Amino acid sequence: MKNLSVELTKNSRVHEIDFHNLPFGKIITDHMFQIDFDGDNWVNPRISPVEKMSIHPMNMALHYGQSIFEGMKASRSKDGVPLLFRPELHAVRMNASAKRMCMPELPEETFVEAVHALVGLEQEWIPKIEGSALYVRPFMFAMDEMIGVRASFTYKFMIICLPVGPYYPKPIKLLVEEHFIRAAIGGVGEAKTAGNYAAALYPSKMGREQGYDQLLWLDAEQRKYVQEVGTMNIFFRFKDEVITPSTNGAILKGITRKSAIEIMRDRGITVNERPLSMEEIIERYDDGDLIEVFGTGTAALVANVEEVKYGVTLMRFDSKNWDLSLSIRDEINQIRFGTLEDKRSWTIPAKGVQVPA
Ligand code: COI
Repeated sequence: MKNLSVELTKNSRVHEIDFHNLPFGKIITDHMFQIDFDGDNWVNPRISPVEKMSIHPMNMALHYGQSIFEGMKASRSKDGVPLLFRPELHAVRMNASAKRMCMPELPEETFVEAVHALVGLEQEWIPKIEGSALYVRPFMFAMDEMIGVRASFTYKFMIICLPVGPYYPKPIKLLVEEHFIRAAIGGVGEAKTAGNYAAALYPSKMGREQGYDQLLWLDAEQRKYVQEVGTMNIFFRFKDEVITPSTNGAILKGITRKSAIEIMRDRGITVNERPLSMEEIIERYDDGDLIEVFGTGTAALVANVEEVKYGVTLMRFDSKNWDLSLSIRDEINQIRFGTLEDKRSWTIPAKGVQVPA
């Protein structure tokens, strides 16, 4: 990247961190990346120490929600090399979100180079413990200062990194949401935009009050077909096939979802991406045909589902049948830690950045 300026912190906090007890989402590394869109061009790329930023009260992202993000993970190979996992796919998805939210696209090579630079610089922060990783959070938001609904002309794109432990340390319970919806076809469900997560907070709180970790969303038109969990895509393993809802504009195109499908298909497992109704799920559960349910996401990686509740129907899933999800998680983890040959070239060493003397 041309003109990347780097200012290093004088007080790294990395030695204060207990890498054996990492929460998710609370600890940030020393440095952040920023680049600004001035209305015509992306300018002033820089890496600098993490600090609070001041925002004008008329900042348009605060009022009208032009805010998008990505989530990706970096790991360290057994030989100590910092590895990125499929960063180019995140660059493409970020731009798809930008397009839908009427925001400028960031050249894919700028996105990827910025991730290489920041993760390379922060490599000391990459946890070595299984189940932990460096969570990389690229995000972009409107910067115009104006009250009135229109697309902002100016934007800021940033990347921060967080050493994290597991997002779901335990198997989860899902409640099928029958009243509220997450996304309709034609809406913004496929975009990784902040409002999708905000809209899920109230229904999720109601679900939690009933003892459920997350909601399983249904389609907005008929409340019949499963969509996703909001923090994860969802997979149903039947005896002779695995089904995951086809992405139809209302479901996030998960990169872990894609990786899990590729792993299963390479093993000769039939994976069908198609609409899947609750009626079919219950019928096949009652027949003993549905044996395993799991979610996939960058934060969650592969999460086991122990219970799904739909109205008065309760479906429980026995951990003795979780071999498929556990083996997918294991395969992705081993690729990320360089203990299994990366036949599909999913990982790439973080190149780092030239730091000033
Ligand atoms: C991710 O999986 O990276 C997400 O952005 C979802 C959120 C639950 C952290």
